[in-house]
Amino acid sequence: MEQVKIDTIIEELIKVYWLELEATINFLAISVDLDGIRAEEIKKSLAADIQTEIGHAQQLAARIKEIGGRVPGSYDFKPRQASLQPPEITTDVAAAIHGVIEAENSAIDQYNKIIRLCDGIDYVTQDLCIRLLADEETHRREFKGFLKEYE
Ligand SMILES: [Fe+2]
Ligand SMILES: [Fe+2]
Repeated sequence: MEQVKIDTIIEELIKVYWLELEATINFLAISVDLDGIRAEEIKKSLAADIQTEIGHAQQLAARIKEIGGRVPGSYDFKPRQASLQPPEITTDVAAAIHGVIEAENSAIDQYNKIIRLCDGIDYVTQDLCIRLLADEETHRREFKGFLKEYE
């Protein structure tokens, strides 16, 4: 495996590792913070997704280590998910759903980028990212479905 390319793959894996962890912070907040009957299903769904996203982060960390990288600590963390902050108005379920879809889109873009980078170089990382990509596409589909009630 070519070291320059592996270093790039590690860098991109770390980016998506942070996206996964930041999503857990925001899913946790939103799953508690929203109010109202209409929010209940979204809250339940996000609460369940916290474990899924932590699982994704754990698998990414293991792979980063496996290919010679280091797993960073919180001092290296820079928040990016502006859209996934708890909505200003706690009953604004649609804003929360839009935020989730946007966050899933970023993760999907990043997984697609890594999948292309890995081609011909690192099939194990590619396979991992394809599996995680499938999970994110399922999440996005679910939340796009929730959004139909608000349009
Ligand atoms: Fe994820
Ligand atoms: Fe997700």
